Amino acid sequence: MEERLVFSKSKDDKTNQQIDMERIPNHIAIIMDGNGRWAQKRHLPRVAGHKQGMQTVKKITIAASELGVKVLSLYAFSTENWKRPSSEVSYLMQLPVRFFSTFVPDLIKHNVKVMVMGDITQLPEATQEAVQNAIKDTADCNGMILNFALNYGSRDEITQATKQIVAEVKAGKLNIDDVDEDTINNHLMSKQLGEFADPDLLIRTSGEERISNFMLWQIAYSELEFVSEHWPDFDGESLKKAIASFQRRHRRFGGLQNQ
Ligand code: FPP
Repeated sequence: MEERLVFSKSKDDKTNQQIDMERIPNHIAIIMDGNGRWAQKRHLPRVAGHKQGMQTVKKITIAASELGVKVLSLYAFSTENWKRPSSEVSYLMQLPVRFFSTFVPDLIKHNVKVMVMGDITQLPEATQEAVQNAIKDTADCNGMILNFALNYGSRDEITQATKQIVAEVKAGKLNIDDVDEDTINNHLMSKQLGEFADPDLLIRTSGEERISNFMLWQIAYSELEFVSEHWPDFDGESLKKAIASFQRRHRRFGGLQNQ
């Protein structure tokens, strides 16, 4: 097959990035970190970083969709983020309302379908409504899935899945000997992503190198990319650079390279 290569200039190392358009990762997951530090560096309140981070979400959604990514999972609010000051939590809860009130027409134009992982019943009503409306309004789109993790934590997801499986075994609907990896996959919140439930590439911005309870089961064989830019500074070129790095890796999934 003839390779379709796209060149892009990376602002970090000023080298031309080569992207093979035939090998774009199907599922990219991003831990969007560094909004607070971005704001602090500019002597702005932390929430100004979240506001700018929302603009980055818009840019990266369109960039990923144009590159042919099938699923973009974004860690927007974790089950641990409730520990932040209530004013910051309130601001973060308003962001989906603002985001979807201005961006749904663009999502539809780009054929992007919105999905959510996490317990949204604990979110303020206006936030739940904005999310449910966006899911409904984009239900007929069949391009990229924009999968927001909202009030999501991987340990909680695995705990809930375990409870459901145990309940099915207790009720005699499931035989314990039939419990396998697929049983777990089918009870996780990522089940709705179908064949693309597992991220191929996980990116974390702002220099921290940890996973912070994000898609722990699903990233078993993901390629990890930690980049120094804060999330508000991450752009289409940064995304291409991460994809170029992904394409230089040799994924073996526990096997041998030349098998
Ligand atoms: C982490 O940065 C970021 C978050 C906890 C929130 C992420 C949210 C957005 C990027 C906007 C989401 C937009 C929508 C549409 C839901 P941090 O605050 O922990 O940064 P720091 O580590 O520098 O303090």
